Amino acid sequence: MAQQSSAGELKSAYGKPATRVDGRAKVTGSAQYASDERVANVAYAYLLTSTIARGTIRGFRLDEARAVPGVIEILTHQNVDKLSGPQDGPDGKPTTTTMETDRVWHAGQMIGMVIAETYEGAREAANKIEVDYSVEEPSSTFGSVGVEIAEAEAQAGPPPKKGNAASAFAAAPIKVDARYTTPTQHHNAIELFATTCEWEGDKLTIYEPSQFMWGTKVAVAKLLALQAENVRVVSEYVGGAFGAKGPNMRTVWVAMAARRVKRPVKLVVTRDQGFTVNTYRAETSQHVQLGATPDGKLTSFIHEGEEITSRGSGYNVSGVDGTARMYACPNIATSVKVVHADRNTPGYMRAPPETPYMFGLESAMDELAHALKIDPIELRRTNDTQTDPTNDLPFSSRSLMKCYDEAAARFGWSNRGATGEKRDGDWLVGYGCATACYPSNIAPSAARLSVTPDGKAMISLAAHEIGTGAYTVVAITVARALGIDTQDVTVHLGDSELPPVMIAGGSNNAASTAHAAAKACDDIKAKIVEAAVKANDSAVFGADPSTLTFANKAIKGPGNKSEPFKAAVERVGGRIEVYSEFIPDGMPHDAMAKLYAGKPAFWAGTGRKDVTAFAFGAHLVEVRIHSRTREIRVPRVVSAFASGTIVNPLTAHSQYMGGAIWGLSSALHESTEIDTRMALYMNKNLADYKMPVNADVPSVEIIMVAEDDTRVNALGIKGIGEIGIVGMNAAVANAVFNATGIRVRSLPIRPEMLLVTT
Ligand code: MOS
Repeated sequence: MAQQSSAGELKSAYGKPATRVDGRAKVTGSAQYASDERVANVAYAYLLTSTIARGTIRGFRLDEARAVPGVIEILTHQNVDKLSGPQDGPDGKPTTTTMETDRVWHAGQMIGMVIAETYEGAREAANKIEVDYSVEEPSSTFGSVGVEIAEAEAQAGPPPKKGNAASAFAAAPIKVDARYTTPTQHHNAIELFATTCEWEGDKLTIYEPSQFMWGTKVAVAKLLALQAENVRVVSEYVGGAFGAKGPNMRTVWVAMAARRVKRPVKLVVTRDQGFTVNTYRAETSQHVQLGATPDGKLTSFIHEGEEITSRGSGYNVSGVDGTARMYACPNIATSVKVVHADRNTPGYMRAPPETPYMFGLESAMDELAHALKIDPIELRRTNDTQTDPTNDLPFSSRSLMKCYDEAAARFGWSNRGATGEKRDGDWLVGYGCATACYPSNIAPSAARLSVTPDGKAMISLAAHEIGTGAYTVVAITVARALGIDTQDVTVHLGDSELPPVMIAGGSNNAASTAHAAAKACDDIKAKIVEAAVKANDSAVFGADPSTLTFANKAIKGPGNKSEPFKAAVERVGGRIEVYSEFIPDGMPHDAMAKLYAGKPAFWAGTGRKDVTAFAFGAHLVEVRIHSRTREIRVPRVVSAFASGTIVNPLTAHSQYMGGAIWGLSSALHESTEIDTRMALYMNKNLADYKMPVNADVPSVEIIMVAEDDTRVNALGIKGIGEIGIVGMNAAVANAVFNATGIRVRSLPIRPEMLLVTT
């Protein structure tokens, strides 16, 4: 009960914009990113990657490489130590091998590593290695000869089904039946993938940008047969991470290399190698069938997806688990298949299921609105629901229509023209909208907190700062909970020696770490209060502990009583310390033990027994298409989101805006091009892999819709990390249709796709 009331106070103390506590360190260059860590006597590694997509390695010609000055060692499958188990893919299940065997599963696979005195020497030597392959014909993507198709095994469970969707669709007076495709996309964080490993006896330290230090620690220990407590992962700052900076095989090989050459080894993966030695967003192909009554009520929802994966992994994102929950509908049928090709294993990339699958759903909704001749926002209103249609659970809260209404008012949606109607000189003008969503996940998390009689606090937890403002979330929470200033709180994150925190993924970080920090504050406050009410020299002597609050560097009691925070701390000791564990309500009691064992332990917004928890949003965009060149511009975007409690509106704004911009990129720019004969990626660099620049994004307005969610978790935090990108691709495609009457069902949208009519 005490925790409930303190959560209520904390909830209302959030919401004030706060600059980043690590801002100065970042802009002055004192923030230590993994490859900045100075390690004495380091040797440099460079990867050798396969030039073929499928086959076996018959041998390596290494003489010329060995002759390069400064070369120390070359690792290949012929001389690496045995691993003590198969490596796990992003879904926790086996995946394709790398340097363990002579097998090549995909182009650009890690097949060797050169270690040399200098980076340049290692690179030169790697370029001199000749590999003899026995080459087999590769299958590259959908439609290629030799792909293998299988039912997807979704992490979220079987695909949602309800009623009889096929017969309801057949009987529906209004139908949409359409196929959509989304492209391959790759992680291009500014900070490259990097790993430095250093041994001290059998203790291993890993410096690596990481979204899950405890996961990497345990995974590396398992594969190298080490005790987990002998592996430490340090990742104080991460220069961008969107799902690919988790446990990774390169860490194991760098550790092995360092053990072999008996000195620290540093590997910074090049930009182009980053496309193939890490995971990525795989291309999808989707079939959506919507049936509706003439007044726009959905009677049938059928969504089928196909996703590319590697030969050895069944990884899939199964976004139908989300799309089936978006709108009221009595009949639902969904399915997902994986298509195994000779490709690297895909993995998480910002809103992994929703980014591709909401393109299908939200494009189809726009097609339905057009067929019904009703406004697309009104179609969403007609089918809005406070109940999850797949399982009849209530949404913990759902402010979707508020998002549409606030965005529409700000945007001037009422000025939208009929299809192909609006023009401004040479430019065709179109408005489009789409729904954004993301499940509200939370996870167990532990923290260690201390306070000292100088009135300062220090909190430590193995959380991850991937650019979102994680240090600041924790600092704000501790400061507000203890009633002290943010600058009097020191936050230590980024080291697996600290209490474990779940992977910084699935948009759970703010909710999980805020609750862990709040729990630690409650525990330490209990100790301080206990001493204060018992001491007859205290202003709150004899007070009922439940009446006391911490504010303005004091404990406040009834009748304006005020006991200074410093004095209250001093009464307990020179330093008070607590170790606290937060386990979300309803989670199994072994959730924390699982986290200690390095296993992801999510409490998913779609896996609960009491409610379904999602954040919602609405994207409204204007596009302008040149009537002759078909150049596509997006002069303005208005996006509104309701994500429960906003811990820090300043960083939340950046996160939403960044997501919306990435969504524009997904609509108009981004695509990894595949040479389908060779199964090779063709644009593995920042020059040819297109993404938006400032001139592509003139105006993005973000509206944060107020929402108090009392059911999602004690602090009402839904998470905002990923929702911003979701649906934007459809909003742009829908605006393109409104401007031109041309429906583009394949991303990214390019001018040549709009040349078909005038
Ligand atoms: Mo994210 S794809 O949960 O890093």
